[in-house]
Amino acid sequence: MAQQQDDKLKKIIAHAKEYGFIFPSSEIYDGLGAVYDYGQNGVELKNNIKEYWWKSMVYLNENIVGIDSAIFMHPKVWKASGHVDAFNDPLIDNKDSKKRYRADQLIENLMSKIEEKIEKEVNKGRKRFGNDFDEEKFIATNPNVQRHKKKLADIYNRYVKAMQDNDLDELYNIIVDFGIADPETGSKNWTSVRQFNLMFQTQFGSVADDSSRVYLRPETAQGIFVNFLNVMKTSRMRLPFGIAQIGKAFRNEIVARQFVFRMREFEQMEMQFFIRPGTEIEWFEYWKNYRLRWHKNMGLGDEKYRIHEHEKLAHYANAAVDIEFHFPMGFKEIEGIHSRTDFDLSQHEKFSGKKLQFFDHELGKSYVPYVVETSIGLDRTVLAILSASYHEEDVSEKGQTETRIVLSMPPALAPIKAAIFPLVRKDGLPDVARKIHKMLRTRFNVMYEEKDSIGKRYRRQDAIGTPYCITVDFQTLDDNTVTVRDRDTMEQIRVPIERLPQMIEEKISMAQFLEQLDV
Ligand code: GAP
Repeated sequence: MAQQQDDKLKKIIAHAKEYGFIFPSSEIYDGLGAVYDYGQNGVELKNNIKEYWWKSMVYLNENIVGIDSAIFMHPKVWKASGHVDAFNDPLIDNKDSKKRYRADQLIENLMSKIEEKIEKEVNKGRKRFGNDFDEEKFIATNPNVQRHKKKLADIYNRYVKAMQDNDLDELYNIIVDFGIADPETGSKNWTSVRQFNLMFQTQFGSVADDSSRVYLRPETAQGIFVNFLNVMKTSRMRLPFGIAQIGKAFRNEIVARQFVFRMREFEQMEMQFFIRPGTEIEWFEYWKNYRLRWHKNMGLGDEKYRIHEHEKLAHYANAAVDIEFHFPMGFKEIEGIHSRTDFDLSQHEKFSGKKLQFFDHELGKSYVPYVVETSIGLDRTVLAILSASYHEEDVSEKGQTETRIVLSMPPALAPIKAAIFPLVRKDGLPDVARKIHKMLRTRFNVMYEEKDSIGKRYRRQDAIGTPYCITVDFQTLDDNTVTVRDRDTMEQIRVPIERLPQMIEEKISMAQFLEQLDV
């Protein structure tokens, strides 16, 4: 299972590089850990996801506006937000391998392995008993399953308590008591567990001393909080209202593996929704459901999403869930929905000395609004789309084996909407194809290509998810029609040239995509 997951992720990484989606940063210098660059197709995919998110949050909701705040912020922001004191991960080093790990992740990985063992036992039982298999009874009585379950419960209870109490010694004890070894070398020679702050620091201006220390923002949310008054006043908004933004965030992650899932420089799409205190659970449920619908609307498969309740709430939250996606590495967080209470605005009031309140005419009083936040990782969304839409299809014909790799992603998000080919590079076909390209390129991201056989050109477009390939052939010269090949069905139909813009629009329409959500 783990091997299969590993193989799938490796395939996605290789494909993303080969087809210009994602490259390792500074690759000619052997790369930079957990930093990636987006190539010619990756940036288009990313821009389309941003458009889908921005329009669905800002355009479809009358009471949400967008901003774009700076990455650098006053250092007091991070003192007020709690990030200077509490934005830590528990880290542990292996003394033999010198490798560094997150203690919480080592323990969580062990729990996943035990869950897999239980699953294996159940599958064995299912095979052995066939139609007579009673899963509930088997789980309740099988000695192996019972042993695994008891171990899992022991670890889980100790782990949850240790995380809640911030008890680093207990995290160390769990690792030692349950014999957790370095996943790469098997060594169990561990240091104690220490806290590690994830914020990057740098110096502002020409004098390097403590007073000039600034941080690269670890989340975009604080840029929204410090602009709460500015936006409320200038947009004449009343509660409830939201502020959205898309931007880069930076975290010095201890263990940065799994491709763009955990990066040191990444992009977030966040929205803070300001509300009357006491209404937060209602709004929390509302945004949880809306955001889950947003994900499912992409058509990657409803079964690929699940909701995970937090065992340990962040320092600012009174309710929180993750929307998890079934990545090649298993179910993992793609978005967080957090009820942040009045924590952030109250802290900024305290540290700035400015009132950050709303006068509620209905209640006849001022108060610090509560906040429900939605926070999704853009890079994780890219990975979700790439991994869910990557398919290897057997298209063998007449004894010739052939596999096609196709990215069957939602057409509205595809980097290139249509590719235009002349069948051959002569007899005036390229001129007609170029004219079609010119007609379409002001409306869509289209591509002209004339190199290689038509079959190879189709395969290249399938591999980057282009919904339509348009071929100009000799019949075009007679009747002004072209063939249009559909990426998913591979069916080809003849279409008059003048109908192409409408046909492509219908296929890739972001408006239609948004309409499905706007009910
Ligand atoms: N403002 C709240 C906040 O930042 P978070 O759960 O820490 O909450 C939100 O992050 C989302 O940002 C995550 O669900 C994930 O998709 C993305 N994210 C967080 N750390 C990341 C990293 N190191 N690399 C890529 N994406 C990350």
